[in-house]
Amino acid sequence: MLQLLGHPLATHIVTHLRDSTTKPATFRTLAYQISLLLALEVTRDLGMREVDVQTPLELHKGRVLAQSIVVVPVLRAGIAMVQPFTDLFPDVSVGYIGLERDHTTAIARSYYCKLPSFDSKRVLIVDPMLATGGSAVQAINLVRAHGCSNPILVCIVSAPEGISAVEALDPNIPIFAAALDRELNSRKYILPGLGDFGDRLYGT
Ligand code: PRP
Ligand code: URA
Repeated sequence: MLQLLGHPLATHIVTHLRDSTTKPATFRTLAYQISLLLALEVTRDLGMREVDVQTPLELHKGRVLAQSIVVVPVLRAGIAMVQPFTDLFPDVSVGYIGLERDHTTAIARSYYCKLPSFDSKRVLIVDPMLATGGSAVQAINLVRAHGCSNPILVCIVSAPEGISAVEALDPNIPIFAAALDRELNSRKYILPGLGDFGDRLYGT
């Protein structure tokens, strides 16, 4: 269930992220900006409740957020997507899943997992790149094992192969992305893509 950001600003930002001459400092700013747009889109239907609020003129029945969110970045690159959520939302918990793709097999190895209580919160797995989908499938399985049956996947660039892998696990998992790219190359990098997100983010 892929939902793409259709906003021209999102396309503009992704184009600059793709540009190989974009330096790490600008890359981090662009990653923040695109994640902010994704954060707004993925929380569009967050639970709300009514409250009475006294304006300077009269009593008003307002609405405030009633549902908290848990953001789960997949280390390391996912860290770049956390701050917009913590900046925007009053009640956010952050969990961490450490996964690293092997450079030759492209199979992700799990090295860390620390997750908060999920209760009835909205659980958002954030990882900028959905390539083979191996990391996303592992992350989904980890949050499910921890008690969240309906996580949402949020990424910046997705590949058809990754979408298929997540859909094969569960066709009902919502996937929010800023871009759907063409394909993977022989080394399982996304084309046109933007290269290795973590390396570009941290200048490694
Ligand atoms: C990147 C990216 C995803 C993964 C996607 O992480 O951030 O987690 O690759 O690839 P997949 O869909 O084929 O699993 P990487 O393993 O390079 O680690 P890093 O974030 O530490 O750079
Ligand atoms: N991880 C990345 O950072 N980039 C890709 O193209 C694929 C996986």
